[in-house]
Amino acid sequence: MLTRMTHANIIVDRDFTLGPVPRRLFGSFVEHMGRAVYTGVFEPGHPTADTDGYRHDVLDLVRELGVTVVRYPGGNFVSGYTWEDGVGPVASRPRRLDAAWHSTETNAFGLHEFVGWARAVGTEVMQAVNLGTRGVDAARELVEYANHPGGTRLSDLRRLNGAEEPFGIKLWCLGNEMDGPWQIGQKTAHDYGLLAKETAKAMRAVDPSIELVVAGSSGADIATFGAWEQTVLGHAYEEVDYVSLHAYYQEVDGDAADFLACAVDMDRYIESVIATVDSVRARGKHTKHVDLSFDEWNVWYVVGRDADDQPAAIAASGRWPQHPRIIEDTYNVTDAVVVGTMLNSLLRHGDRVRIANQAQLVNVIAPIRTEPNGPAWRQSTFWPFARMAQYARGEVLRTSVRSDRYESQKYGDVDVVDASATWDARTGEAAFFLVNRSLEEAASVSITLRGFPELVHCSAELLRVPDGGNRFTTNDPSAGERVRLRALNVAAPLDGQVQMTLPPLSWAVVRFGPADTL
Ligand code: AHR
Repeated sequence: MLTRMTHANIIVDRDFTLGPVPRRLFGSFVEHMGRAVYTGVFEPGHPTADTDGYRHDVLDLVRELGVTVVRYPGGNFVSGYTWEDGVGPVASRPRRLDAAWHSTETNAFGLHEFVGWARAVGTEVMQAVNLGTRGVDAARELVEYANHPGGTRLSDLRRLNGAEEPFGIKLWCLGNEMDGPWQIGQKTAHDYGLLAKETAKAMRAVDPSIELVVAGSSGADIATFGAWEQTVLGHAYEEVDYVSLHAYYQEVDGDAADFLACAVDMDRYIESVIATVDSVRARGKHTKHVDLSFDEWNVWYVVGRDADDQPAAIAASGRWPQHPRIIEDTYNVTDAVVVGTMLNSLLRHGDRVRIANQAQLVNVIAPIRTEPNGPAWRQSTFWPFARMAQYARGEVLRTSVRSDRYESQKYGDVDVVDASATWDARTGEAAFFLVNRSLEEAASVSITLRGFPELVHCSAELLRVPDGGNRFTTNDPSAGERVRLRALNVAAPLDGQVQMTLPPLSWAVVRFGPADTL
């Protein structure tokens, strides 16, 4: 039987690099939402929990995932949050209504618990401040509480609450999605731009070493996209370091070809924000650059497949449950391949996208799922993230890809084969992250490694539709890890040339090294 094949040629050159791999691209997000915190990362009494209530089965998976920075505590949640509720003796912390997710927040987990958890993981904290219902004062006080060594009311309160040393949080978000009508305390671009500027000044006055992310549009398809960034940065450009981007994609009406092409939209979104930011730079005669923080991205079935547990249904019921099951999307093979393309888009723009956070980390649209008092497990989407976080090191290589293309409804012509690559001078290793978007056809891929005569060994892993499964196959604790990585046979490079076959609908990591140590 003849199998149909598509073709792609990928060329990289040792001298053509984009710059260092921003390690903060492998960020994630823990929001007080659904079961991300409670029965997610934190479950006192769980068989694996330590005396702080941190689930060690989750800690182990988070470490394996390799997240480099975690955004906290929201998201929409932060726009109604009083950070002081989450510090001090747990018994005296107030229970509050969380209007963002129509839930009851117990505040058993707060700033100290999150910083302790992040330290246990070995990841950086990215802290958001509430610019919905609060403002300059609460934000600067939080910086003082967290980062000032001592000798003031707030820093001494932190010490009294058990943290003698400052938390030293470097990365801060100035609110969340302030353009969205769903946001508590939504603002006009003008009002938000002024508030962000003044808040940034006050926060930096307390700790000049911090880095600040101003909230860009909540997505590229909101009507004010572009104009929002222009106005906000028109006010706050000098005071901030990054502008945020958020994007979620899902398969609609069974159009997998479109869904698999969505990272093309991500590319365009990133490039539009770069153009907008740089136009403000030029108009304002600024010398510094503002970079991009893609601090929410993922596959999210907002409507359809997993939508019956949506927050709106809880709101309609009039209940205020504690950590309800909301948006616990179950990811399949197709979703994992799409996540691979989104990671490629982020890495290929690593000269300007300096931070990225997959939203979210545990249970809520997450690569890791848990059951209360039960197991934790990896979703299909765990793998492309984990391997890229592990192997994308050193410099981003510019990839020249000449691939067969297909026509997608929404995004036009799209490469069947998608790629990104890195090279680490320290270890002498190169890593390629490859996707075959075709549902039916295998892809014959050739890679030309220019200027890398020492790369003579190869090792590769593949995520594909498992035997006996289909593109909708998922993982779950009862059926086991059906979607996982398998070895892919790739012959060692010969004269800088490598040839391989990627099965239909697959993601692969292919690594080359100077020694047989891969
Ligand atoms: O990640 C889930 C939600 O999506 C966040 O709270 C919000 O910022 C976005 O709309």
